[in-house]
Formats: sequence, C-alpha cells, structure tokens
Amino acid sequence: MRTIGIIGAMDLEVEKLISSMKEKKEVEYARRKFYVGKLENANVVLARCGVGKVNAALTVQMMVDKFNITDIINTGVAGSLDEKIDIGDMVLATGAVYHDVEAVAFGYERGQVPQMDVFEFPTDKGLVDLAEKSCLKVNPDIKVFKGRIASGDQFIADKETKTTIKKYFSPLCVEMEGCAMAHAAYVNNINCLIIRAISDKADDSAEEDYPSFEKKAAEHSAKMVIEMMKNI
Ligand code: ADE
Repeated sequence: MRTIGIIGAMDLEVEKLISSMKEKKEVEYARRKFYVGKLENANVVLARCGVGKVNAALTVQMMVDKFNITDIINTGVAGSLDEKIDIGDMVLATGAVYHDVEAVAFGYERGQVPQMDVFEFPTDKGLVDLAEKSCLKVNPDIKVFKGRIASGDQFIADKETKTTIKKYFSPLCVEMEGCAMAHAAYVNNINCLIIRAISDKADDSAEEDYPSFEKKAAEHSAKMVIEMMKNI
C-alpha cells in the first residue's frame, strides 16, 4: 500500500487538504506539523514546509524517514516563463532544475549540482498522467501544460532575471521548492509530482498579481489532488 506525502510551502496551499482528511493525527518535528491520515482512499501525510529549497528538501526527507512515504506530491504556485502560459493555468513538471546552482568555475554546466548524476531531476510519469486526467475532470476550464520547471531561492519579479533563467533553462515556470523535492525524491528512490498553478508572470507585475491569484490557485490545486487520491 502506498503512503503519499503531500507538501505545500504556504498554509493556504494545504489548508483545504488538511480539512478534508479523515482519521487525522497531528505530529510535530523540526518546527513543522505533519498530519497523518486518509484523504479519499489514500494513506497520506500532509505538511506545510515553508518557503525555499532547504525547507522543501528537509520536509521530504523527514516524511521518508518517519512516515515511509512512497510518493511525494508538491502543490503550489509559480511564475510563468512561457508566453503561452497565463495566470490561472496549471503546470505539471516532467522534470525540475535549479536555476541558482552554479559551479561553472569547475567546468560544470550552469544549474548542474557538482558530482550529481543528473542535471534535471525527474518526476513520475504515472503521477503526471493521473494529475492531468484529474485536473481535466474537476477543473475543465483550466489549461494544463507539461514540461520543465526551474527552482531557486528567489522570488522572480523583474524582466532581466526572467530572461536569464529562460535563456539557460527554458522552463515553463519558476518557483522556490519543486526541484529540491524532486532531488530529495530522486536520492530516496520515491515517486515525485510537482503541481504548479500560475500566479504571476515573474516580471515587474509579479508582486501585484501574486496575492490576488494565490487563493484561487490553492482551490484549484486542492480539488485536483483530492480527485487524484480517489484513483491512486
Ligand atoms: N512563486 C510564484 N511566483 C513566483 C515567482 N515569480 N518567483 C518565484 N517563485 C514564485
């Protein structure tokens, strides 16, 4: 039987999921609360990890060590880096890269973690397909895109940084946790899915757009994850 870890960076991203859980128990480690129980038919562990790559990776590792998760699902928001992808659309990562890792002085390609055997951390195709099907069912008006995402410890809100990330990595969107979760999943040999609702365009309008879209994005993602748990 699978145990699914579900992580969001912010309260808003996990509140609806936590309130939909049954047989719920709360456990606290390392200043974060883990909610263990059932969501639809699935055994789940849910947590808010906080913002950024370190918070993301350590929360996945704790879920692996303490709760034996077999899969990790990361839900959240992102800034679009592709003209086709608008605020409100959904992105499912087929792989994730770090846009802020750089050891070029040692001959590594920009983004490559030294001595790591992959450049792009993979996600699980089965989970991506299930997420796409579930999203089309419960949010039929929302467009779903599949492709690479880029992560870094930076909120991108200017054209210049956006252009640089596009030039080196060609991702569909940018955010602050996904690659760290995919990295932690990869080294622990568990399945990973990264879901992102687009909240802004990662440019000069990002600070304004982000807060107004955040709530809607969280609702769409929660509906989709709950539908996934019926069929996982
Ligand atoms: N999450 C949502 N929008 C973002 C942005 N513009 N940069 C980084 N993370 C984000």
